[in-house]
This record gives sequence, C-alpha cells and structure tokens, in this order.
Amino acid sequence: MPPTRTPSSARSIETIVVDGLALAKSIRSELAEEIAKLTASGARPPCLAVVLVGDDPASRSYIKGKQRACGGIGMRSVEHLLPAETSQGEIIALIDRLNRDDSIDGILVQLPLPDGISAAAVARAVDPAKDADALHPNTSGQLLAGTADLISCTPLGIMAVLDHYGIPIEGADAVVIGRSNIVGKPVSLLLQQRHATVTMCHSRTRDLPGICRRADIVVAATGRARMVKADWIKPGAAVIDVGVSEVDGELIGDVDFEAVQGIAKLITPSRRGIGPMTITMLLRNTLHAYRARLGV
Ligand code: GUN
Repeated sequence: MPPTRTPSSARSIETIVVDGLALAKSIRSELAEEIAKLTASGARPPCLAVVLVGDDPASRSYIKGKQRACGGIGMRSVEHLLPAETSQGEIIALIDRLNRDDSIDGILVQLPLPDGISAAAVARAVDPAKDADALHPNTSGQLLAGTADLISCTPLGIMAVLDHYGIPIEGADAVVIGRSNIVGKPVSLLLQQRHATVTMCHSRTRDLPGICRRADIVVAATGRARMVKADWIKPGAAVIDVGVSEVDGELIGDVDFEAVQGIAKLITPSRRGIGPMTITMLLRNTLHAYRARLGV
C-alpha cells in the first residue's frame, strides 16, 4: 500500500504517517484465508472468549472492535459481561470454565479491571495454552527466554509496523518510554531480540529529552498526552506512539504529532495507527493457540 506522506516546506524530511489500518487489513486477509482453508477441510473455526468486568464505555467499545475483527476473518467470539461488583473469585471461576471449554481457543480479559481485583491474579488464572493476550507469567517468561509463541499484541503490532515500513532494527538505538507489562517491557525485549540497543525510560528517568534525542526508534507508551516534544526527536527517527488519552473529547497520543512532522521519518497516528495492529495480533495469537491446541 502507498504510504501517506506529509509534505513539509520548512523542513527537509517528509514524514511517513503509518497507515496501521491498511496494514492490519492486509494481515487480517491472510489470517482469513488461513481460517477458510482450515474450515474447508472440516475443522471448526477458532474461537476467542472476551471477558469484560464493569461497564467502562471505552472498554466496551474496545471489546466490540475485537469481536467485529474476529467476525471479519471467520473467527468466532463469545462475550462474557460481568457486573463491576463481581468478585475476583467469580472472575477466576469463569476463567476456569473457559480454560476447560474445548471450544474456546483464546481468552482475553479486558483491562483495566475494577479496583480491588488483581490483574496479576486474573492473568495467572488463564490457561497459558489459551493466553491470546500473552499476559500469563509463563508466557512473559518465554518471551524473556526468546521461546514464546504467543507474544503481547501491541508489541507484536509495533514490530510488524517497523518491518513493513523497512525501519532498520539491528544495531539501532531504541528508546522505550514506559515500563508496563503490556507494552514497555515486552516491546523492549522484542527490539533487543532483533539486536537493537534498547534504553528503557520511565517517570524517574533523568534527562528524558536528551536520551530520546539519541534514538533511531522511539516507542512512547505512557498515556501522557503530547509529552514527547518535537525537539526530543532526532531527525529521521521512527516514532511509534502507543499512548491514547482523551483530551476535550479528542484522542491524543503521547507524542506531539503535528510538531514532529518534517522531523521524524515515520510516525504512527493516534487513530488508525497501532490500535488496529494490536487487534490484528490478538487474532494472530488466537489462531496460533488454536493451531497448537488442535495440532492443525
Ligand atoms: N486494555 C487496553 N489494551 C488492552 C490489551 O491489549 N489487552 C487487554 N486485555 N486489555 C487492554
């Protein structure tokens, strides 16, 4: 697909704005073909179970998007909506049932969970063989060892974007801002496995702008709107913006998107950037788990 280029009269670099939706669609059509072949040969379609606790409107809309994406590639999905007052024991009991249900291949528990529920305990309850979200400690341990089959969805989506747009990773200086279990830590491992020199930054990092300025690849995953400024970015760097904050009804990334135009070589927008890739990698993981479980 042709990249969108943003012309800039005052600056020398034309910044590529990543079309995450187009890339996601092309990967999803490959996954759909795989599933069509499997079902044509008599296998049942893969199935993802999505669990939502509480009625956070953003989470509800995210899980709808995930289920729509399943349907779009011929994958089944089942939804379990639990009230916000559900106890941790009741959530884990549901996960146990899904673990034992042979018709379920992947399990995703949407985060954040209500106060008082341990996300770590819930992640541990998921059968590692069905860990489509790759949050079980066994799965993250395998990622650390470089032996994981199921890999966190957003980090996997980030790597696919870098590869699709031909960003060199080997030997690159990569700076990851944010050390979450879901993005910062796993993406730093994936970049390291591909021989980048990775610096992990966080809220206590001294001279964050100075460290960022050395980076060929910046991954911003803090959820702090427009915190990464244009003068933190080395000309020609690839900037992956994972953050999404709502400011006055508008979705804003961690990076000052407009200001880095003409400086960065590539940037992901807040809409149609990394989001569709995350969902696509959830589908990929579910299909992967299904194939491994069924031996097909
Ligand atoms: N909430 C926001 N992103 C994610 C994700 O990738 N997985 C889950 N389970 N919850 C999320």
